[in-house]
Amino acid sequence: MSQPKKQLIINAFAMQAPGHLNPGLFKYPADKGSKYNDIKYWMALAQKLEAAKFHAIFFADVLGGYDVYKGPANLEPTIPGATQFPINDPLYSIPAMAAATSSIGFGVTASTTYESPYMLARKFSTVDQLSNGRVAWNIVTSYLDSAARNFGLDTQIEHDERYRIAHEYLEVTYKLWEGSWRDDAVTAAPKGSYADPKGVRQINHKGKHFTVPGPHICEPSPQRTPFLFQAGTSSAGKKFAATHAEAIFLNGHTAELVRPSVDSIRAQAKDFGRDPQSIKIVAGLLVIVAETDEKAAEKFELLASYGDREGALALFGGWSGYDLGKYDDDQDFRFLDTAPPAVRSMVNHWASNSPQGTKWNKKTIAEHLILGGNGAKLIGSPKTVADELERWVEVADVDGFNFSYASVPETFEDIIEHLLPELRRRGLFWDDYAVPGGTLRENYLGVKGNTRLSDTHPGAKYFWKAGEEIPAYAKESVNGTLQ
Ligand SMILES: Cc1cc2nc3c(=O)[nH]c(=O)nc-3n(C[C@H](O)[C@H](O)[C@H](O)COP(=O)(O)O)c2cc1C
Repeated sequence: MSQPKKQLIINAFAMQAPGHLNPGLFKYPADKGSKYNDIKYWMALAQKLEAAKFHAIFFADVLGGYDVYKGPANLEPTIPGATQFPINDPLYSIPAMAAATSSIGFGVTASTTYESPYMLARKFSTVDQLSNGRVAWNIVTSYLDSAARNFGLDTQIEHDERYRIAHEYLEVTYKLWEGSWRDDAVTAAPKGSYADPKGVRQINHKGKHFTVPGPHICEPSPQRTPFLFQAGTSSAGKKFAATHAEAIFLNGHTAELVRPSVDSIRAQAKDFGRDPQSIKIVAGLLVIVAETDEKAAEKFELLASYGDREGALALFGGWSGYDLGKYDDDQDFRFLDTAPPAVRSMVNHWASNSPQGTKWNKKTIAEHLILGGNGAKLIGSPKTVADELERWVEVADVDGFNFSYASVPETFEDIIEHLLPELRRRGLFWDDYAVPGGTLRENYLGVKGNTRLSDTHPGAKYFWKAGEEIPAYAKESVNGTLQ
């Protein structure tokens, strides 16, 4: 008998901005990206995606403008194409979307570099309560100097140091979410008391970067710790992911290039005592699908014709930190000795997967990034795209995909109309949520009752279970005193 096929996780990748990985596309007549500040738009999108059984809407977020290109600190190339600017905070819209739906999850990006853990823990507990346990935190350490400057720094905190801070940050949030309120502090409160005062305790965290006495100001939410997503692929990023993430978001040009990252994360997770296959890995892709390969290619060309090239180069500047504005239009970066090695290596990487003879100058780079950013693009009929997705799962060992859009909601509507039926026909995508009305963690992991962190997750160390006088972690004394 043949093995049952791996069921795919499918997310919609979005941003609360008129443009995400599609600078300029707000000008395309069908695009509704400019409605990002209308709550009814988000509620309707959530309902549409839930009807199609998407696992989650996953919101990227940034805290500054892409101002490196033709910079420094220049947003002129960024603003005309609405290149991730302006951008609203995604968290506020989640309760409204949750009220309009019952099973779809909501991933929200938030940075460990610019907000205190006490504040973030409160916000996520609030939204986890109001969404009935359907929120995920995409933990990022951020990458834009423009954000750093707006938070009062001259430049960003050094890369690996940001991850060291993030480790301690997570420890603080675990203590607040898992170890500050006993599981039954509210449900088994003494008569006449809202909660059991003996079931709420200080966390007294005193670390290198944070001092947080607690207690957590919110009562326990369904998931306690929101489902934890992570995106970041440096060595420090992979170690962080293998330690903390329950799901990981990777970008990659080809399945072959993504595989080593997947292997490395799963191997490290195993070393940390976690089940490597329990970590869900999703790849970011742009899918343009239509009845036939020809129609899909025509659609892609049409969409790309609305793209804003300057915006694409601004994205490149923000992501890489390098300003291509300094170079001539037709200079090929593969052979340019004066270009930073990181730029040459990035461009060589793309060139190795594109037709021979392509010149890699600013125009090609802009066209390469204009739709779908730095993720792979699959353009074709339902069969072509589904074949390629199957190949990704096999070659890259990923568990699913974050589908970005060229035009919203059209790209998702095309996926719903053309691709999902083909995936279902092949037994690759569910007909309904594993746990309708359940929490995000239950639906992501496909197991009813899996609402809390698993026992092998580092956050589980901080659980304060019913019946325990104090949580087990707090019994470990520091300097002879209880923590
Ligand atoms: C696929 C992917 C998506 C990301 N999305 C965001 C995002 O929405 N907001 C953000 O600030 N950083 C985002 N990041 C950046 C990372 O979280 C991280 O801060 C950055 O990549 C630097 O870490 P690294 O060197 O380990 O990749 C993303 C990274 C990847 C790989």
